[in-house]
Amino acid sequence: MSSSLSEEPTVTTGPRCPVSHLAETFDPFTDPYLQDPYAFWEVARREEPVFYSPSLGYWVVSGYHDVRQVFRDTATFSAAISITPLKELCPAAIDELVKAQMVMGPSLVNEDPPVHTQRRQHIRDALVSPRRIEAVLPRIRVLANTAIDQFVERGHADLVADFAYEIPALVAFALMGVPDEDVERAKTFSNRLALFTWGYPSDDEQQQLANGMGRYWTYAKEHVQRRLQEPTDDYISELIKVWRTPGNEELFDENYLTTTMMNFLFAGHETTTNATANGLRALLEHRDQWDALCADPSLAGGAVEEILRYSSSVIAWRREVVKDVVIGGVEIPAGSKVLAVTGSANHDESVFPEPADFDITRGNAIKHLAFGFGRHLCLGERLARAEMRIFLEELTRRLPHLRLTTGQKFVYTPNTSFRGPDRLLVEWDPTANPA
Ligand code: HEM
Repeated sequence: MSSSLSEEPTVTTGPRCPVSHLAETFDPFTDPYLQDPYAFWEVARREEPVFYSPSLGYWVVSGYHDVRQVFRDTATFSAAISITPLKELCPAAIDELVKAQMVMGPSLVNEDPPVHTQRRQHIRDALVSPRRIEAVLPRIRVLANTAIDQFVERGHADLVADFAYEIPALVAFALMGVPDEDVERAKTFSNRLALFTWGYPSDDEQQQLANGMGRYWTYAKEHVQRRLQEPTDDYISELIKVWRTPGNEELFDENYLTTTMMNFLFAGHETTTNATANGLRALLEHRDQWDALCADPSLAGGAVEEILRYSSSVIAWRREVVKDVVIGGVEIPAGSKVLAVTGSANHDESVFPEPADFDITRGNAIKHLAFGFGRHLCLGERLARAEMRIFLEELTRRLPHLRLTTGQKFVYTPNTSFRGPDRLLVEWDPTANPA
């Protein structure tokens, strides 16, 4: 059965043959794409907004309305593959996961309705209730200031390593109820998960990453078991309470909770780290915007939206087509895989005029698709926004004279979906620090 999603009259059938020049040049794993993906998408939206990439094996969708449609139509576009590693696991990586007895089942992000709908409601209430978010805000501000204290007199810093990397992980651990004494241990596993899932790591890298994942799995399993014995009021305990409510016996099992804890770190850590680093880079490269924010901190909320639009940390997300469909005038058969390029959608000139301009007062920046759209809309969006806003407020307050170190090269981990510089070097004159 075919469901038409587009109002365009012309329909192109199947993978184009010969594959277009654009599709052939699409390589999300090397420069120049990694340095500036937006240049590629500007041409793609104009010339071929939906194309098949033979090297990736994915249909690639880049226009705002088409990307939103992919997210909206959960009956056609299944989320099942959204976090399946792009590169098949090598035997050594499989061994690592077997050693850790890691049996990762589905969790919210790769489930479809109706089970997704039933679980999401409970998970949302447990994870991001207004009470829980309000409670964590003061801690985020303390963490931000503690980090700044470490380097404020130094005159230079790497804002990824010294600031943006650790705090979102610490916030995620706090929400999950990881005790302070375990944080060092848990932290070491949560490194470079983007490369594992959305990149093509070498076999050695893959094995190493699988080893870290296996160890985190063991930790998550122990944590869930501890909370089963002694629930507190953290997120995992909250889910256990829901599960133990009469009538909810089928909702979760122990493995589901361990998988949820595992994926929570994926979801809440590098996404926010990268968005913060992208934002600071954009602000410091557009000095007038940084200065405007320093002069008027009430602009921070708008700045966060424009950062997520202009340079989001999640620039593409995946879906599997479960029934034939037409999108952007192109027929895509059931069984195909789709890469929905949110980063490109956020620069679609039909929605965001002058999309390459970075303007923290842009009126409709909030229409960006950085958090996805529809039923799977990011559950952490309120928390991520709050974290980023607090980071901007504290950095502009304490280091308004911050500038990017000149001559640095920004390096991006080669992968399709997560984007943020590995380092962000900045400097300032400590004798000019505000009192
Ligand atoms: C700037 C930071 C973040 C970005 C850009 C981001 C982006 C996304 C995207 C694109 C999705 C997939 C949406 C879809 O499939 O339609 C998603 C899902 C999700 N995110 Fe985030 N995220 C961020 C931060 C967070 C944080 C801090 C948390 C945890 C508190 C979180 C928890 C989740 C969860 C649980 C889902 C699955 C929702 C579902 O499938 O129903 N995210 N996020």
